[in-house]
Amino acid sequence: MPYAYPEIEPITRRIPADRQGAKRHYGVHPYFTRRPANVVRSYIEHYSKPGDTVLDPFGGSGVTAIEAMLLNRHGVQSDINPLANFIASQIADTTHENTRAIKEAYLEVEASCQSMVERVPQLTDEEVQANLLRVRLPENISLPKTSDVERYYDLFSPRQLLTLALIKDRVDRIIDPNARGALLVAWSATLGKLNKTFLSAKGRTESRGGSSIFSIYRYKVANRPVELPAWDIFRERLMNVIAGKEEVLRQKHLLERTQGWRGTFKAYSLDLAALAAAFGRKADYIFTDPPYGGHIAYLDLSTLWNHWLGFEVPLSARKSEIIGGGEQCFTEDHYIQRLRESVRLCLKMLKRNRWFSVVFQHWNVRYFEAILEETARSGATLRSAVTQTGDTIWSMHKKKNSEKVLAGEVILTFFNDGESQFPGQRVSSKPGLDEIIENALAQVSPDGRPFAGESLFNHIILVAWKRGALHSLDLTRDDFSEVLVKKGWRYNLVRHQWFYMPENVRSGFQLAF
Ligand SMILES: C[S@@+](CC[C@H](N)C(=O)[O-])C[C@H]1O[C@@H](n2cnc3c(N)ncnc32)[C@H](O)[C@@H]1O
Repeated sequence: MPYAYPEIEPITRRIPADRQGAKRHYGVHPYFTRRPANVVRSYIEHYSKPGDTVLDPFGGSGVTAIEAMLLNRHGVQSDINPLANFIASQIADTTHENTRAIKEAYLEVEASCQSMVERVPQLTDEEVQANLLRVRLPENISLPKTSDVERYYDLFSPRQLLTLALIKDRVDRIIDPNARGALLVAWSATLGKLNKTFLSAKGRTESRGGSSIFSIYRYKVANRPVELPAWDIFRERLMNVIAGKEEVLRQKHLLERTQGWRGTFKAYSLDLAALAAAFGRKADYIFTDPPYGGHIAYLDLSTLWNHWLGFEVPLSARKSEIIGGGEQCFTEDHYIQRLRESVRLCLKMLKRNRWFSVVFQHWNVRYFEAILEETARSGATLRSAVTQTGDTIWSMHKKKNSEKVLAGEVILTFFNDGESQFPGQRVSSKPGLDEIIENALAQVSPDGRPFAGESLFNHIILVAWKRGALHSLDLTRDDFSEVLVKKGWRYNLVRHQWFYMPENVRSGFQLAF
């Protein structure tokens, strides 16, 4: 009997995120805006069946395609960033039935290089410099203009450069390509900690913290860089890689014994447009998370890893990246046009009568307009919009501006029925923003209960869209806060929610007691 895709009832409720629940994604290697595996998994299970092809054309570190594979689907991912495909392919690799080869390779590396690495902190500066002349280092290239420092080597202390080079040199000599790949991921994750952009988290052990690359999205050098113990970090990272791979293998073996293993994983390193041409209309479900405007210049920020790993990023890839700003100085109009194109191409790769989920968040209404208009124009109908508040990774930027920075992504899910679905007549007069907010507020907080700003913002977008008024909605983040404050709502910085404050409390009446 054919699987009844059209009869699937869309997911309409938020799925609480379990960020650290899957070792195969959490702790293996840092990457940008990684989606919680349990949420992605639930969507894949809901909108597709075993044996289906599940595609993520902005695949990042591979959460969608890996979870699809582990659910006995054909997981396909593509990303223009070689680092992303490298992380994803290594986690997904099930060539070996167990992790023995990786552990053996580690022991070899340990025997020939641990003591050397552990001696580096005791070397004099002159000895470090002399040793640096003997190891293989990548070329000292220029960094993006927004960086605190000019050149690649400036991102490291001489000791960090030396230890990283010593370990990499030994890892490169591992003969088994799959074991080498796993150790290279661990080395690459170590590189993320052994550099001057790494900031120790206050009140925690030195090694707990993160790089400014992920918190403020640029190469900011720490005021007081820390020299973490290189070998311990490398071993810890490798243990995480092994734990992640063992999880993947356990699930594979379980499926082999029960339903039979049909899961596959494939990664393309293509710009979305090239992928659409190569892939055709083969996807049964697409779950994707396109870049959100100009916050994160993925290729610029991944230079730290791509360069030393030897992954070339040609100018053509940089020119095709879908972002605003960055080293290529892309304009906002350019980004919007590429976002529209992405949606159109996604729907070209999706079979008819199948589902398409897009995760998105931004204050810019025009970006949502691009997604909603283009899906409608391509013949897909919006069937649900779920705000995933609580999924937030509280980056420094978000913490400092929590009232105005949106932190809860919305998952928009469309059904590709092939019928153009522009809502009603387009309203051309500027709609009363206040009235739209009122309407959305009534849906988000009918009884005045606290709510997350992103929930309301997403509802505003949808109310405006359903009224055919999105194109004339002019809402900035300041307008949003101002209107809410005028209506008696106050933002609670601790709970990241808006609370209603009755008139008498606001006017100070109760403060007199
Ligand atoms: C929001 S991230 C996706 C993160 C992913 N959800 C994860 O869990 O790791 C967006 C991704 O789009 C990629 N990207 C940007 N422009 C692209 C293009 N033209 N074609 C393909 N991928 C692109 C970036 O490299 C980045 O990894």
